Amino acid sequence: MAVVLAVRVVAGLAAAALVTLLLEHYGLAGSPPPLPRLRPPPRPQPAPGGGHRNIFWGLQISDIHLSRFRDPGRAVDLEKFCSETIDIIQPALVLATGDLTDAKTKEQLGSRQQEVEWQTYHGILKKTKVLEKTKWLDIKGNHDVYNIPSLDSVKNYYRKYSAVRWDGSFHYVHTTPYGNYSFISVDATKNPGPKRPYNFFGILDEKQMKELLLLATESSWSNHTIWFGHYTTSTILSPSPGIRTIMSSATAYLCGHLHTLGGLMPVLHTRHFQGTLELEVGDWKDNRRYRIFAFDHDLFSFADLTFGKWPVVLITNPKSLLYTCAKHEPLERILHSTHIRILLEEVRRFTTYFLFKRTFISHLIPWHHLFSLLTTTL
Ligand SMILES: *[C@@H]1O[C@H](CO)[C@@H](O)[C@H](O)[C@H]1NC(C)=O
Ligand SMILES: *[C@@H]1O[C@H](CO)[C@@H](O)[C@H](O)[C@H]1NC(C)=O
Ligand SMILES: [Zn+2]
Repeated sequence: MAVVLAVRVVAGLAAAALVTLLLEHYGLAGSPPPLPRLRPPPRPQPAPGGGHRNIFWGLQISDIHLSRFRDPGRAVDLEKFCSETIDIIQPALVLATGDLTDAKTKEQLGSRQQEVEWQTYHGILKKTKVLEKTKWLDIKGNHDVYNIPSLDSVKNYYRKYSAVRWDGSFHYVHTTPYGNYSFISVDATKNPGPKRPYNFFGILDEKQMKELLLLATESSWSNHTIWFGHYTTSTILSPSPGIRTIMSSATAYLCGHLHTLGGLMPVLHTRHFQGTLELEVGDWKDNRRYRIFAFDHDLFSFADLTFGKWPVVLITNPKSLLYTCAKHEPLERILHSTHIRILLEEVRRFTTYFLFKRTFISHLIPWHHLFSLLTTTL
């Protein structure tokens, strides 16, 4: 554990050194965009230091596929996720990016909304009181709209059983004393919802694009904007100028839908031509994947995780070089930072009896400690 951490920290250190050399460099998904870009003026302060300020984190979970017929473990584990995992990590918000339910027929070939699957989902939210612990933003996936004749249909169970219950895209602002952070959902599900297998692609029409553009404008005052949706942008059909252009003010687009392509593509991360990171998270359904992301002094970081595997570790400073977004992140702060900052659970004995409480906090290691550690051990 300590070794793993040390290795990761050293890797992070190397990344930071590279950042200083290659601030212009875009590591991910091929060559840098040829467009001349307006770089914002440097904002070296506030730089990551020795306090627990200027940081918040959230989780993403996708493609849960609660099923009436298959793998009851999906629901059992989701309940544990909403209680144990959320209690330890204490995220400011959770993005549940669609396919909350499986909506298939018994023999798995056809599709049909199963109210009992939605009741299971709703029951878990209620029983674990997760909506009181964090902001739970759940949206629809293609499975959640199979065979729905219209949004007003009683079969639109999302309206009855989800946490958000809002048809269409929306904008949520996470407000903190040190800044505002926008989260914009993209609802590209079809209306009416076709049956299987006719909705692998999502669609946005002109009207929906206008709405999204409006949300993007609204969010321009925020320190950062994250977009999230069910479909990858490669599986959304949208009119000109296209969904990627509309979301170009986003630091990242978080989505699901492809389920790591049955294990063929365990990591589906890419970068748009416009600079936005597109980060698909693996599915809960078969792989029990989820993601933690953080904004630490306006630097974005994330890690893709497997449910039940501890420790959960996220180095928030220095952040990963591969996922820098120079257009939106004040990367110069890494140079001005005084501490390495790591989100990690901590086990505390909080009474004289052996009662342990696991909490998730930012661990702070002054840079000079690391240097002396390295020189004494190497
Ligand atoms: C967020 O933006 C405001 C306004 O630009 C700025 O004053 C503040 O320092 C930013 N927050 C962080 C953590 O950088
Ligand atoms: C966040 O937004 C509110 C409302 O728009 C604004 O009054 C406040 O100054 C913003 N906070 C920061 C730190 O920018
Ligand atoms: Zn799915």
